[in-house]
Amino acid sequence: MTEYKRGALIIEGKTKKVYNLQNDPSLCLLESKDRITSGDGVKSHDLKGKAAISTATTAKVFQLLNEAGLKTAFVKVVDDTTFLARKCEMVPIEWVTRRLATGSFLKRHQGVPEGYRFHPPLQETFFKDDANHDPQWSEQQLISAKFKLNGLVIGKDEYDIMQRTTLVVFEVLERAWATRNCALIDMKIEFGIDVNGEIMVADIIDSDSWRLWPSGDKRLMKDKQVYRNLTTVTEKDLDTVKRNFEWVANQLDYLVPPVSSLVVILMGSPSDEEHCKKIANHAKALRLNVQLRVSSAHKGTEETLRILAEYEGDYEKVVLIAVAGRSNGLGPVLSGNTCLPVINCPPFKPENISQDLWSSINVPSGIGCTTVAYPESAALAAAQVHALHDHMVWARLRVKQLMNFIALKQADAKLKNLVL
Ligand SMILES: Nc1ncnc2c1ncn2[C@@H]1O[C@H](COP(=O)(O)OP(=O)(O)OP(=O)(O)O)[C@@H](O)[C@H]1O
Ligand SMILES: [Mg+2]
Repeated sequence: MTEYKRGALIIEGKTKKVYNLQNDPSLCLLESKDRITSGDGVKSHDLKGKAAISTATTAKVFQLLNEAGLKTAFVKVVDDTTFLARKCEMVPIEWVTRRLATGSFLKRHQGVPEGYRFHPPLQETFFKDDANHDPQWSEQQLISAKFKLNGLVIGKDEYDIMQRTTLVVFEVLERAWATRNCALIDMKIEFGIDVNGEIMVADIIDSDSWRLWPSGDKRLMKDKQVYRNLTTVTEKDLDTVKRNFEWVANQLDYLVPPVSSLVVILMGSPSDEEHCKKIANHAKALRLNVQLRVSSAHKGTEETLRILAEYEGDYEKVVLIAVAGRSNGLGPVLSGNTCLPVINCPPFKPENISQDLWSSINVPSGIGCTTVAYPESAALAAAQVHALHDHMVWARLRVKQLMNFIALKQADAKLKNLVL
């Protein structure tokens, strides 16, 4: 707490306190309390250690989202029970995403069986109003409220951005939890608008934010529903709830594995280095490891096959990108001698593209390499192969698509009001 001087208390809620920061008005401190509540605060208990578990859980979830490329209000952990966040004016809406029907959805939609599966996940919005039990709001109600927060009015574009982001957050965490054989059933998040008028996922994401069923089995649930379901609350019950929360926080350590998926870019000549570096930079941004190799399938066929053997023997999952100008022998030779995916990305020159293209495409029977024309496409194609087994690469791809969606929307908003 030395560099972050705690200022005045801004707000105290049921489970945390928010403090100003004396030395930076764009940030705040979120301190968790050792308190568990449910039913809009009707049921409430002290639970020693809960603040630390909740802070650790939120920090790990936000770190995962940041690692996926999503900007959130979370900045860093300050101590056991406190983290530093971008100070936001909060959108008073709970954004809910459901993969399976359960809980309040079943009461509002009689006849739908528990476990009904939503494709895509179902999205709902609830206005945060404890006194009226957080009523469900439609898109139209939300837009009509014209919330103005840190200078930004929440209209259709802002609604769309939050809705899309909510879906991506759910999908990313769903896949991450699947690697621990846990089904993410549903979850809620909140958004804030920071001092720059930027929309971001804010508040916290902890065991109160989702339903989590190990092995997809409701009886094994590890989230706050265990507490909500209690009619009488004994010390033993509270201890079970706490141990569940601890288990969740510990599991989260496994959800962001080190970068491991490998892309090998083989170039036919060192003169292709610049082109290959462009592919490499795109690949690294997609959370891939990259290695550059030089080998000519025409002039050094044995060497090409020897290099191939290195990857066949050492790594389990490798995607090969072949870069060869003029006549591309490299990609087809690799592809004919390996089961690894091979993507051709020749450094086309505009004057020769129509001739050179055919050596990558018009390959003999039995050869299954694919061909793309641009360095970014090669990296994306390799990432999509790795995304089949690497949930963090999948997450980067998904967040990149979200960012494209947001950038187009913002560009459109800017230009549609341009007076020509
Ligand atoms: N990054 C942030 N900047 C500013 N305020 C925040 C931020 N993140 C969360 N808050 C606010 O902190 C307050 C305290 O949180 P807490 O969750 O304890 O409230 P609560 O009693 O549960 O009420 P609510 O139903 O609004 O969540 C809330 O009003 C929440 O919106
Ligand atoms: Mg809250």
